[in-house]
Amino acid sequence: MLEVNRLVKEFGGLRAVDDVSFILHTNTITGLIGPNGAGKTTLFNTLAGLYRPTSGDISFLGKPIGGARPHDIFREGLVRTFQIPRPFAAMTVLENCMLVPSRQAGERFWNNWLHRARVRAEERACRDRAHDILAFVGLAALAGEYARNLSGGQQKLLELARVLMADPKLILLDEPGAGVNPSLLVTIMDKLQELNARGITFLIIEHNMDLITTLCDPVVVMAQGKLILEGPPNLVRSDPRVLEAYLGGMPA
Ligand SMILES: Nc1ncnc2c1ncn2[C@@H]1O[C@H](COP(=O)(O)OP(=O)(O)OP(=O)(O)O)[C@@H](O)[C@H]1O
Ligand SMILES: [Mg+2]
Repeated sequence: MLEVNRLVKEFGGLRAVDDVSFILHTNTITGLIGPNGAGKTTLFNTLAGLYRPTSGDISFLGKPIGGARPHDIFREGLVRTFQIPRPFAAMTVLENCMLVPSRQAGERFWNNWLHRARVRAEERACRDRAHDILAFVGLAALAGEYARNLSGGQQKLLELARVLMADPKLILLDEPGAGVNPSLLVTIMDKLQELNARGITFLIIEHNMDLITTLCDPVVVMAQGKLILEGPPNLVRSDPRVLEAYLGGMPA
């Protein structure tokens, strides 16, 4: 589904992503771990088109997307969430979902302009879809609540709901477990597993090793910009190179 070949992203003299290559297979859940500052979020931002690669290639479903604009990548079905959820605080949970652009937005614009009845029908369909997705993530009761009133964990669920509004094929999740209490974390993990069973592929950055071990196979490890290891969660977990990376040693 996604092929990354010799990807480099530099900030000035700093190589935040340093010659990274890997393949994501369709319908897998891949974990991405590594110490703080390893380059994980930078890799996500580069895959999602927020940063232009310094060099290297990215292809998604056989199409080159390296250097493509974020909304074009989004339209292909590759969608990311942010490490810190950023919903519109002064809008309701439902409105936040309805704001997510349709992946076919560009094609629809003129149609909408010409057919007001269709606009209303589409708005109804969007509202219904938002309600369905909010029910799926467990936020139905909060649909009318202002997003700013949600707890940290509920904001994670809203972020997931918003991503699902886009009808994604590949979701990049940046720390879905951060700041989430253990019981809500179990809920989030169940939802991710269910979505994966329905055919969505995931790449997940996470520091919580329980989440990684339960959900992800394979797991890839980054340290100091490099991809140092890839394998099944239990092997990765017990590999001395990973421990060394977390303790601040040089990547192997
Ligand atoms: N926009 C930027 N400009 C300059 N340097 C940046 C930028 N974004 C990230 N960096 C640097 O790139 C390196 C990798 O950062 P990144 O945020 O990708 O790490 P991370 O693996 O996501 O860490 P964490 O687990 O703490 O979220 C860091 O040294 C960081 O300071
Ligand atoms: Mg990060």
